[in-house]
Amino acid sequence: MAIQKVGVVGFGQMGSGIAQVCAMAGFDVIAREIDQKFIDSGMKRIDGSLARVVKSGRMSEDDAKAARGRVRGTTSLAEFADRDLVIEAVIEVMDAKREVFAELDRVCPPSTIFVSNTSSLTIIEIASATKRPDRFAGLHFFNPPVVMQLVEIVRALTTSDATVEALRDFVTRAGHQPVVCKDTPGFIVNRLMVPIMLEAVRALEQGVATVDDIDKAVKLGLRHPMGPFELIDYTGVDINYHVANVFFEEFKDPKWAPPALLKRMYLAGRLGVKTGRGFYEYDESGKKKS
Ligand code: CAA
Repeated sequence: MAIQKVGVVGFGQMGSGIAQVCAMAGFDVIAREIDQKFIDSGMKRIDGSLARVVKSGRMSEDDAKAARGRVRGTTSLAEFADRDLVIEAVIEVMDAKREVFAELDRVCPPSTIFVSNTSSLTIIEIASATKRPDRFAGLHFFNPPVVMQLVEIVRALTTSDATVEALRDFVTRAGHQPVVCKDTPGFIVNRLMVPIMLEAVRALEQGVATVDDIDKAVKLGLRHPMGPFELIDYTGVDINYHVANVFFEEFKDPKWAPPALLKRMYLAGRLGVKTGRGFYEYDESGKKKS
């Protein structure tokens, strides 16, 4: 049976973006957060993003309104009992994810497919909190999900062919482009992207060039839409620091160790756009200060 009803757990930057993508494609969406105030801020983010979509002519105002009407917030996972697919996008902490899925496993029927939007954690370790490791996979969206077309379908050792095919169909119907990869650290994109970010921080530490010039070099020399420091600030210093730690734990190779500066920025709470300061400074709307 094709996926129609989607549950999203975690309504932050990624969760709200994923919920919006699903709603824009016509899926019925329930999103769960631990507190009403996070539901309100996620809905506000969706409103702002839908306004941009309408302004750029990609959707009519009526269709955007209808999409907004397909997303409902809740603070209770008990409401997920009728979901065909549940996408988890909570904090990148293994115990937190396992706890969410253990509860979902009790609430949802055996047919519900579970996926995690983790960017670094091992899928089989999350899946083992449930009794459905064959109907469990990674489904990795990119930030901002409304704009970034790619979705990595991460196949754990236990994921069934039917689950992969159901997810491929879902991603395509959601208007995105799937790729399938094995349950290995960083999947495809982060395995290639994280070394660039870490090397950029090391280059800065070694005085090779300034933040501005490293970003400028990568944008103009490699045609990347953002430089590595802009991208770290955009995705979050905390996320990048955690991802590097996970890679280092797995590979035990110093090339994956988070550079000292990244750790210190994380500890100082200079997390990028979301805290108003990372490698650059930002105003309240998230715009870089000149
Ligand atoms: N919602 C809706 N539309 C949005 C949007 C949002 N949140 N953000 C951007 N857009 C749209 C704009 O409306 C605009 O649309 P039109 O061209 O149709 O008018 C278009 O996207 C371009 O936006 P802007 O002109 O505002 O700005 P830009 O050209 O600088 O693009 C960007 C912004 C899309 C973020 C671009 O800089 C970019 O692609 N950056 C790289 C992002 C990236 O690499 N993401 C992956 C991060 S890694 C990750 O997510 C995984 C992980 O595990 C950490």
